Amino acid sequence: MSEEVFRSPKKRGRVAVLLSGRGSNFMALHDAVLKGWVNADIDLVLSNKEDAAGLRAARDRGLDTLFLNPKLFPSKEDYDREIVNELRRKETDLVCLAGYMKVLTPFFCREFKNRIMNIHPALLPSFPGLHVQQRAVDWGVRFSGATVHFVAEEVDMGPIVLQAAVPVMQDDTEDTLAARILVEEHKIYPEAVRLFFEGRLEVRGRRVFIK
Ligand code: GAR
Repeated sequence: MSEEVFRSPKKRGRVAVLLSGRGSNFMALHDAVLKGWVNADIDLVLSNKEDAAGLRAARDRGLDTLFLNPKLFPSKEDYDREIVNELRRKETDLVCLAGYMKVLTPFFCREFKNRIMNIHPALLPSFPGLHVQQRAVDWGVRFSGATVHFVAEEVDMGPIVLQAAVPVMQDDTEDTLAARILVEEHKIYPEAVRLFFEGRLEVRGRRVFIK
């Protein structure tokens, strides 16, 4: 059986950002778009949290924003179906999860297979899940970092696009390590989106090749 291969498109892309919090990764991505480093437009910033600072920042930047209240939907899949409808209306090419603290349903993952990216503040597959900077400190690992990956149905386990490593210092706290990792997140997320719309990402199985 031949292996399924996905190649990212070479085009000016339409990006939707999903976030739940302060939105620093969204802003780093938008800054890269404004500087012309990334061949894409951010057409929608969507949140599950009405008071997310990132949503306010997007509004201040003149972008289309949308708050969808999960409580108004009977199930998680109904919620994700509404998001997918919005993304289809916007003709979204790539969904960027940027501190979006809701697990996507299998339905959403399948509808946008190879077209959802996430940033995670650890070197996956080490430390999936939550509170990962604290867990890295507690484990005494010498290095941690950030990972941009495609989203698959298994949480935090999709094909890895880019990673950046940082040292973990003996006197690190969750906050000092998180700050060191965040600097790298702001570099590799725009870079991954840039590569995507340069048509340079090829996904084969669980590996991503950069052309
Ligand atoms: C970032 O550190 C991101 O890697 C993390 O949430 C933070 C969001 O910050 N995401 C996850 O932990 C996803 N599992 P931001 O709102 O300033 O971009």
